[in-house]
Amino acid sequence: FKNGSIGFFDSGIGGISILGKTMKLLENEVFIYFGDSRNSPYGSKSESELINLSINICNFLIFENNCKAIVVACNTASSAAIRFLRERYEPKIPIIGVEPAIKPAVEFVNSNNKKGYILLLATPFTVNGDKLRCLINKYSKNTIECFALDYLAYMIEHNESEQSIYDYLYERLHKYINNVSCIVLGCTHYYFVKNIIKDIFGEG
Ligand code: DGL
Repeated sequence: FKNGSIGFFDSGIGGISILGKTMKLLENEVFIYFGDSRNSPYGSKSESELINLSINICNFLIFENNCKAIVVACNTASSAAIRFLRERYEPKIPIIGVEPAIKPAVEFVNSNNKKGYILLLATPFTVNGDKLRCLINKYSKNTIECFALDYLAYMIEHNESEQSIYDYLYERLHKYINNVSCIVLGCTHYYFVKNIIKDIFGEG
């Protein structure tokens, strides 16, 4: 293994959902996690703000903490900044981004002959970004409904009660119950409320 750590960053705790899985796969690596809670949530920021924040964090991880690779463990920051980060740091430092799991969702729906549309939940920035549009055009012949959750990452970040998160989601999403085949969690924070989303939509 090359010397140095693998740096992860997100607007807060969301990227921990990816870090945990990566740590199990790469047991001999050392990881540094940067949760930018001072600037969270990212989902309502502009592209230039997100690019600047991402560059500052990468500089900190690479030049002050000797990171040899960076995982942008945030769909919003990946959507806004991944191209700029790659232009700036690669090939010396690989930059790994995340994107909503549209491809596996389409494969799942097709191979199980599921009826209904795929519901993608993400931050406003991700939902409105060109990157998502390209991704959907590339993989999906199915109908995909994209829904921006303006406040959910904030609620998760601030440890709001399960009941208030349930109420927030139910109010916005109940119209989709019975109409969706599959739900894509397009924000790394949402992993932590997967069970609440399952409670709303029911089994299957
Ligand atoms: N966890 C982030 C994502 O995957 C951003 C959440 C936020 O700060 O709005 O998009």
